[in-house]
Amino acid sequence: MKKIVVFTGAGVSAESGLGTFRDSDGLWEHYRIEDVCTHEAWLRNPQLCVDFYNARRKDTLSAQPNAAHMAIAKLQQALPTTRIITQNIDDLHERAGSHDVVHLHGEITKLRSENNETATVPLKGWEQHYGDRHPDGSLLRPYIVFFGEGVPYFDEACRIASQADIMVVVGTSLNVYPAASLIHYAPKDCPIYFVDPGHPEFGMWADRITHIQKKATEGVPELVEKLIKELGA
Ligand code: APR
Repeated sequence: MKKIVVFTGAGVSAESGLGTFRDSDGLWEHYRIEDVCTHEAWLRNPQLCVDFYNARRKDTLSAQPNAAHMAIAKLQQALPTTRIITQNIDDLHERAGSHDVVHLHGEITKLRSENNETATVPLKGWEQHYGDRHPDGSLLRPYIVFFGEGVPYFDEACRIASQADIMVVVGTSLNVYPAASLIHYAPKDCPIYFVDPGHPEFGMWADRITHIQKKATEGVPELVEKLIKELGA
């Protein structure tokens, strides 16, 4: 059975009302990354980081999966070898019905030990109280990969991408590494479909990419129908 790998960024959740980062009016136009999304920021002003991610969590809990999330879940249901890798910290893929989603940059619905990047605990509701501790005794922090930190599941994501027969990329500006390099791990003969209304820089990949220049809720359902029909699922 063909292995499809779906790789998503903030654009897949844009029509659910969750802001992207680098579009006009994006999150990084309103907050400085060095204030809320680096380890130094966490050490310097942990309450500001907690407040920032509490606000993100509140937005996520009130957002709903959109037609693109639903279509991706339908693809995985029709073709169970489909894997989903996301840069997003929201849980909209899971709430749409997708499973085994690889989150490269963490998950807003969890907190993690300060001592261990993968020792997580679920967080009920939207509010983390700074000062609560992990069972290992360390302070709990948002389960977010801050800029400059290691990406714990990147090797797993590369292994998955290297076995793709088809790669579908949705809503990412390919600005942040190592996540953005994931398309480089797709096999040479693996077609790459890119759903994004914008003009991401494809560089040397331009000839291998089929750019579907549409919003996710339009382009992804159409592509999923095409793939399910083609692959006879
Ligand atoms: N449908 C599809 N794509 C969209 C839509 C939409 N409705 N709206 C915007 N986009 C596209 C934009 O054109 C852009 O290419 O989504 C992309 C958003 O890019 P970014 O804001 O840079 O988000 P992303 O690529 O996911 O950022 C990667 O950067 O700040 C870090 O950790 C953060 O995971 C994030 C990483």
